[in-house]
Amino acid sequence: MKKVITYGTYDLLHQGHVNLLRRAKALGDYLIVGVTADGFDRDRGKLNVRNNVLERVDSVKATGIADEVIIEEYIGQKIDDIQKYDIDIFAIGSDWEGKFDYLNEFCEVRYLPRTEGVSSTQLRAKLTPDVKLGIIGCGRVASRFPAEASVVNGINVVGAFDTNPVALEKYCDAHNNIEACSSLADLLRNVEAVYVATPHLTHYDIIKQSLEAGAHILCETPMVLKGSQAKELYRLAQDSGLILMEANKTAHCPAFRHLIVMIKSGVIGQVVDIEASLSKLWDDQKSLREFDPVQAGGSMYELASYPLLPIVRIMGCNPLNLNLYSRFIEGVDMYTKGVFRYPTATCSFKVGLGVKTEGNLVISGTKGYAYVPAPWWKTDYFELRYEDQNSNKKFFYKWDGAGLRYEIQEFISCIINRRFSTSRLRRKESVFMADVMEQFTNEINLYKI
Ligand code: CTP
Repeated sequence: MKKVITYGTYDLLHQGHVNLLRRAKALGDYLIVGVTADGFDRDRGKLNVRNNVLERVDSVKATGIADEVIIEEYIGQKIDDIQKYDIDIFAIGSDWEGKFDYLNEFCEVRYLPRTEGVSSTQLRAKLTPDVKLGIIGCGRVASRFPAEASVVNGINVVGAFDTNPVALEKYCDAHNNIEACSSLADLLRNVEAVYVATPHLTHYDIIKQSLEAGAHILCETPMVLKGSQAKELYRLAQDSGLILMEANKTAHCPAFRHLIVMIKSGVIGQVVDIEASLSKLWDDQKSLREFDPVQAGGSMYELASYPLLPIVRIMGCNPLNLNLYSRFIEGVDMYTKGVFRYPTATCSFKVGLGVKTEGNLVISGTKGYAYVPAPWWKTDYFELRYEDQNSNKKFFYKWDGAGLRYEIQEFISCIINRRFSTSRLRRKESVFMADVMEQFTNEINLYKI
């Protein structure tokens, strides 16, 4: 009996899939179809597959062409499957021409004609047209956005605006297909959503103007430096039927998200302490906005939303108190340490700009602790450690590119599904962070050391 195997996502099953399955089946007597697992697709950058794996398996089965359907879960599995199922022919569409020649060592490889004019990507685009997005603020942070957005389905970056015409021109020269807009109003006329990557103090006005123009907003963290402003903007967004989301990339990082749900499930017992630190040294400090007191520079405004994230996600928004201690140099806090008292835990964070400290995240509990080494804010790895070292566990994940793709995907998903708040960073948690920034601003003189 001649055995044939083929693989694919088979999202929104279409005629091209059916033709391919028929052609593959015709090569032998028995056809095995490998359907990609949801996590496998996510890991290889296919972020917006519509049908889940159960639905995709069902639709392949419903064609009646496959004799057996299996799930593809990891890179390298094809070789294992070919050997395990004693496969004679590996077949795949001609869009993969040459890519699977390495399997010739294990069986015959055949590239089959692809059906023209239909694909899952096209069908997804038809179901929900791309969200047209504009970039506001063309500095260092925004430079990573277009490449990251290009791997997320459902978004098209079409325009950009910066108050500095030189920065704007440079940005649009570097990114084909992004049009330079002469004013914010001009940009807002042409887009449905914006990504705000301007200095912190400009966020409030830009968000308001964008909401008035009917745009959904993904705003770099910290979104604003006052809790009352954050509350007002979230209320305004919801009342206007628009999504407003703070872009804290750690909140969307797969490893971080899994860490949080594991901690909440009790894997280290009751949490009694969280320590989170983050620091950066720059060579050419003085020329950077981050060191400019007039533009809300300093380590607290610049970095604190990252270490505040695990604290608020695990312990919540109602600490009994917060004490802050800062070392100021030339008008900005080069270093700030914060200590929260919660009813059953204490949490502290350290942030430094132009000061270096160990950048760990350590979450201590009554049964063990979680250890995440720097850079924990974009981690692909963490450990759970216990008294009995044999019980220790290491967890590894994928972190792709600059990591913005995860927050972009969630932003688009919130727009499509009209979700005003994401479970990865609740609005009240974002307000809490702004409250902490406001406390720092109000009591700045008390904290100087
Ligand atoms: N296929 C085909 N003709 C098409 C579309 C897909 O022959 N018009 C084949 C692919 O070459 C592959 C199999 O069907 O062998 C499964 O492909 P998959 O990647 O799931 O389908 P696409 O429609 O190409 O999906 P996407 O647009 O998400 O890449």
